[in-house]
Amino acid sequence: MPSLFARLPAFPWDRLEPYKATAAAHDGGIVDLSIGTPVDPVPELIQDALTAAANSPGYPTVWGTPALREAILGWLARRTNAAGLDHPNVLPVVGSKELVAWLPTQLGLGPGDKVACPQPAYPTYEVGARLAGAEPVPYTGSVTDLDPAGLRLVWLNSPGNPSGRVLDVAELRAAVEWARRHGVLLLSDECYLELGWEADPVSVLDPAVCGGSVDGLIAVHSLSKRSNLAGYRAAFLAGDRTVLGELLQIRKHGGMMLPAPVQAAMTVALGDDAHVAVQRERYAARRAALRGALEGRGFRIEHSEASLYLWATRDEPCWETVADLSEEGVLVAPGEFYGTPGDRFVRVAFTATDERVAEAVRRLS
Ligand SMILES: Cc1ncc(COP(=O)(O)O)c(C=O)c1O
Repeated sequence: MPSLFARLPAFPWDRLEPYKATAAAHDGGIVDLSIGTPVDPVPELIQDALTAAANSPGYPTVWGTPALREAILGWLARRTNAAGLDHPNVLPVVGSKELVAWLPTQLGLGPGDKVACPQPAYPTYEVGARLAGAEPVPYTGSVTDLDPAGLRLVWLNSPGNPSGRVLDVAELRAAVEWARRHGVLLLSDECYLELGWEADPVSVLDPAVCGGSVDGLIAVHSLSKRSNLAGYRAAFLAGDRTVLGELLQIRKHGGMMLPAPVQAAMTVALGDDAHVAVQRERYAARRAALRGALEGRGFRIEHSEASLYLWATRDEPCWETVADLSEEGVLVAPGEFYGTPGDRFVRVAFTATDERVAEAVRRLS
C-alpha cells in the first residue's frame, strides 16, 4: 500500500496564496471571506466555565463527564426531537474534522471498502476514506442511486458545505431507508444544523426521518459554528449505540479525549440557546448584506438556504471570479476545492466582522 501521505490529495489552499497577496495589497486591506472560521467572541458564560475548570490535574475520560453527556442528550432532545436516547448513544470528539478524517480507519475500513461522499463537499470525507486505504465514491444525486456493492459508509451533509443546501425530511428518510436496506452505515454531518436561514434543517435523528430508531445512523455535531468554539475543539456523535460503543473502546485505546476544561465549557454551551440566537442575528445581517451586494454585482446565488456560506456564480470558471474579486481586496474560495460540480462557483463565507463585511459590500457595490 502507498504511504499515508501518498494517499492524500494535494492541499489545494496553497493555490489561493497569490490571490490572497493581491487582496492583501488593496487599500484598506483584505476582506477574507475564503474560510469559515468564527470571528466573534466566545460567549462569556462559556469562557467562565472553561476557566472555572482550569484546575484539572487528572486525566479526563474519553466518553466525557456524565454532565457533558446529559447536556448532549438535552440538546439532542430540544433541537433534533430525538427520542429514547441515553448515554451509550453519545460520544464527544475532539472537533468533528478529526472524526471525519479518522472514522473510516477507526471502524476498520481498508482496501476494497468504499465510502460514498457527496459532491460538492467538505473535502475531509474523501480524505477519511483515503487515510483508511478505502475508495471514496463521489455522488451528486440521491443516495438511493448509489451502487451498494462494497459500500461500507455513506456520508450526508445537511446543511451542506459549500453549497448551503438542506435535505428535506423526505430526502433524508429515503437515504436512511436505503442505507438500512443495504446494511450501510449512514453518517450525517449536521454541524450547521442551527444555522438555517430559508429552511429549518432537520436531523437524521428526528423520528420523522428515522422512525424513532437510530440503528445504523450516526449524526455528527460540532460547537465550532454554533457557539464560536472552533478554537476549543468541541464536537460529538449521536446515534447507533453498538457502533458508538466500539468507537468508545477504540478511542480509549488511542487516548482521543477532550481536555477537561473543554468538557466543562461544552456542557455549559450545550445548555444555553440564548448565545446561539445572538450569533445567528449577526450572521443573518452579514449574510443579507453580502447577498445583496453579490446579486447587485451580477452573481446568482444557488442553494445557500443554510450554513455560513453563499454559493455564488457568474457562470464563469471559478478562478476568474476569484481573480476578479481579489483585485477588489475580497478573497473567496474557488468552488473547485469542493469537487468538480463547483467549477463555476465560489464560496463566500460570512464569518467576517461587521466592519469587514461592510467594507466588502462597499467595494462590491
Ligand atoms: C461540513 C463540515 N464538517 C465538519 C467541519 C469541521 O468542524 P470542526 O472540526 O470545527 O468541528 C466543518 C468545518 O468547516 C465543515 O464545514
